[in-house]
Amino acid sequence: MINPYQMALLEAEIGKKRLEHSQRVSQTASSINDTIGLNPIWVQTSAILHDCGRLKDKDQISVRLKRYGIVLDSQTQDSPQLQHAVLGRFLAQYQYGIQEAAVLNAIRYHTTARAGMSPLEKIIYVADAIEFGRDYDGVDRLRYLAHNQLNQAVYEVIKQTIDFVKQNHQFVHTQSIQAAEYYKKYKEDLFE
Ligand SMILES: [Fe+2]
Repeated sequence: MINPYQMALLEAEIGKKRLEHSQRVSQTASSINDTIGLNPIWVQTSAILHDCGRLKDKDQISVRLKRYGIVLDSQTQDSPQLQHAVLGRFLAQYQYGIQEAAVLNAIRYHTTARAGMSPLEKIIYVADAIEFGRDYDGVDRLRYLAHNQLNQAVYEVIKQTIDFVKQNHQFVHTQSIQAAEYYKKYKEDLFE
């Protein structure tokens, strides 16, 4: 778990509102994890830090990317939305001292998702979409699925995210398309 000093640094870098979101993600992720049983510290740490790359000071994003020698792929280059997850993975390691690859990957893939996600990656990805501050059509159904059919919840969140990105005429990253393809087999509807 990150210490109080790191927590203060995180709040300074991402802002109070974003930190409160991350705390809700942590509570939601912990609740999903009750039936899965991963190391609870890893779940909470991944959730608290998942948006650590979403810096309030936008100019700092390129500064930090350079500092860590991060070379972005062409699809991520033009998207601040995608960049924050890549940067966040490095900030988690070098600024917040996280060593566990599982935690770093949960942060890295919480925006695009990817094919064959680990259980921790899936928990954080879904918890981010359904934390109790979220309010949109279908969110209660996703909350139910998250606690009962996590893979199906993953598929539905990926699908809805891709649809949203397309509606906004934005680019869908290849990793998300591959993830949707991979999790498609879980799309059967429990309610039919
Ligand atoms: Fe988030």
